[in-house]
Amino acid sequence: MSRRETGRSTVARGPARDDHPDPWRAADAQTNVDEMAKSLEARGRTPAQARLRRRFLRFVPVESGERILEVGCGTGVVVRDLAGLVGRRGEIVGVDASRQLLDRARALCRETARRTRIRLRAADGASLPFAAGRFDAALAITVILHVADPLRVVCEMARVTRPGGRVGLQDQDFGVVAVTHPDRALTERLMRGVAERVYEEPHSGRRLPGLLRAAGLVNVRLLTDVYQDTTLEPWTKTFLERRAERAVRFGLVDAPTAERWLAGFTEVVAAEAFVLTLNYYGAVGVKAR
Ligand SMILES: C[S@@+](CC[C@H](N)C(=O)[O-])C[C@H]1O[C@@H](n2cnc3c(N)ncnc32)[C@H](O)[C@@H]1O
Repeated sequence: MSRRETGRSTVARGPARDDHPDPWRAADAQTNVDEMAKSLEARGRTPAQARLRRRFLRFVPVESGERILEVGCGTGVVVRDLAGLVGRRGEIVGVDASRQLLDRARALCRETARRTRIRLRAADGASLPFAAGRFDAALAITVILHVADPLRVVCEMARVTRPGGRVGLQDQDFGVVAVTHPDRALTERLMRGVAERVYEEPHSGRRLPGLLRAAGLVNVRLLTDVYQDTTLEPWTKTFLERRAERAVRFGLVDAPTAERWLAGFTEVVAAEAFVLTLNYYGAVGVKAR
């Protein structure tokens, strides 16, 4: 990717005020919450992402008239999808640890909330402010990867789900990212090195079924899906830029190498040879009656 394409240097922005390397751990402590919110919306709009999100919601499944909790709702991308599925008789409750992202979600969900009951509130997934059995299903989409204690969050989701209801998790798995680039060794070093430093468990996706079972859920099912991009979608471009920026921050490469790495994708895209795939795993378990 050239600077001309991005308008400015891509490897030196978005410093965090919080010291955990994963910015989603504490979005409100970051200096670039606006960019984070935009990237969630950009991902939400990306057709291949929307398809795999909706395939997961069908897999759960989410039915008309149900009460659904989404933990880690961010700007409300999934809340808006869910509203269409539960309809006028249903209810969606979205919680998030970030008040700033919730403010954006309130604005972005205003129109949808005319047709479906939507409540958005600040809460930590590890300590949900709801009575036991309140929801037909509790979901967390690309959230478990970011939390400090995944089992505690999933146990909380199970607690607030009614007997016979479902707990559903969907996550990327950064052990399974394939991307075309002229410098394979550099790409491997940078992608793996960043994922290992940012996430406690970069293989979060493949661990979701085990997590559901550990939380006591039964009839656990798995849906493996793939995000595929052959044109360098805006969200993918931002994803690669963030990887480059962090690789510099972690001392994996210097800034000129990171710039050269990004420029390598421009060549591949120009040759119409760009491919990025990223595995997503969706797992659903049932709360025993
Ligand atoms: C990558 S975003 C996913 C947002 C949304 N589910 C989506 O797919 O668009 C992760 C979200 O989880 C939230 N989050 C992280 N840790 C959390 C926690 N312990 N409790 C609640 N939300 C949390 C973040 O603030 C962020 O909004």
